[in-house]
Amino acid sequence: MTKSTSLSSAKVFSNWLSDIRRELHRYPELSDEEFETTAKIRKWLENAGIRIVDYSLHTGVIAEVGGLNGGSIIALRADIDALPIQESSGLSFASVSPGKMHACGHDYHTAVLIGTAILLKEHEEKLNGTIRLIFQPAEEKATGAREVINSGALEGVTSILGFHNKPDYPVGTVGIKGGALMAAPDRFSVDIEGKGTHAAVPESGIDPINVASHIVTALQSIVTRNVSALDHAVISVTKFQSGTTWNVIPDRAYLEGTIRTFDEVVRRHIIERFDQVVEGVATSFNAKASVHWIEGPPAVHNDDELAELAWQEAEELGLIPIIATPSLAGEDFSEYQQKIPGLFVFIGTAGNHEWHHPAFDLDERSLPIAVDFIAGTAKRMLLHANNKIGSVGFYNI
Ligand code: NI
Repeated sequence: MTKSTSLSSAKVFSNWLSDIRRELHRYPELSDEEFETTAKIRKWLENAGIRIVDYSLHTGVIAEVGGLNGGSIIALRADIDALPIQESSGLSFASVSPGKMHACGHDYHTAVLIGTAILLKEHEEKLNGTIRLIFQPAEEKATGAREVINSGALEGVTSILGFHNKPDYPVGTVGIKGGALMAAPDRFSVDIEGKGTHAAVPESGIDPINVASHIVTALQSIVTRNVSALDHAVISVTKFQSGTTWNVIPDRAYLEGTIRTFDEVVRRHIIERFDQVVEGVATSFNAKASVHWIEGPPAVHNDDELAELAWQEAEELGLIPIIATPSLAGEDFSEYQQKIPGLFVFIGTAGNHEWHHPAFDLDERSLPIAVDFIAGTAKRMLLHANNKIGSVGFYNI
């Protein structure tokens, strides 16, 4: 790229941002396989003179801007992985890898964070602190944030900012909200063991289809009867398998699904009630049932002060900040928030389809807007972090 003028806004290099987003979109890589993506990110950053910091990550990149004058460290995070989806967008830069697609816009997130790094680099000497850039792998598997944390890349960081494109928001809009924003997505499976028999003599067996049907129905009463109407929760059974033919009652049934919650107490309560309901219903039919849980990341819970800073930045840039509506999708950004205060925001990208749709796309006019907004909010976060240290010092005196 050519940088002819001083970069006070990413609008100066918006075409280049589109180019790199399209390059990433064309060659998507799945979670923990982002080798080419990692190499490209490194190359683009190094070409801009941005220093890469080597942590022992399998894939993904950690880089830094600033720190020339000491000060606090804040982090910015973008996820870089794609999904196992066959693209049907018809775009000129559609995926060339069969069965793989950037259907959640992580190509966009990566381009935005690279642009942010370049914009911040331009005024690096004026930064009162360090901005650590986390290009995180494996968000779709919900394991990448833990990989980054385990590598030590979060050490010394005061606060963290993450973002996601939002297809249903117009370009120029940003969704900001303190408190709960995205759900904890836990996955369950249930094995039901009955006793097979001839379809004509059900009294000789224990019908697992009947038992599983009662379990599915009873599970629905947990949200309506055990959770306050003021809390939000979902239980969805999404898979029900049993039997092989029309005249045999099988001996087993199998269920799978997910629960979504925003509050840790509600989450624990639902899991406890779930186990009790499954066991109780199965026992009442003389069947056996076992539940297996795969716990997802916790809910995304935003820091109120950071949300206020982002709101101020949006207003100063002439964007339209709105109070984000919580999403029941999951996001492993919450793993960072278990360690340090963090803020996750939505950026309007005016797409025709929701996340994970095979024809997913976004309006690239939102690229430079997002870069300006993330860079500006990062600077405010640094100032805020430095002031906090200052105030602690003051009160200690
Ligand atoms: Ni995503």
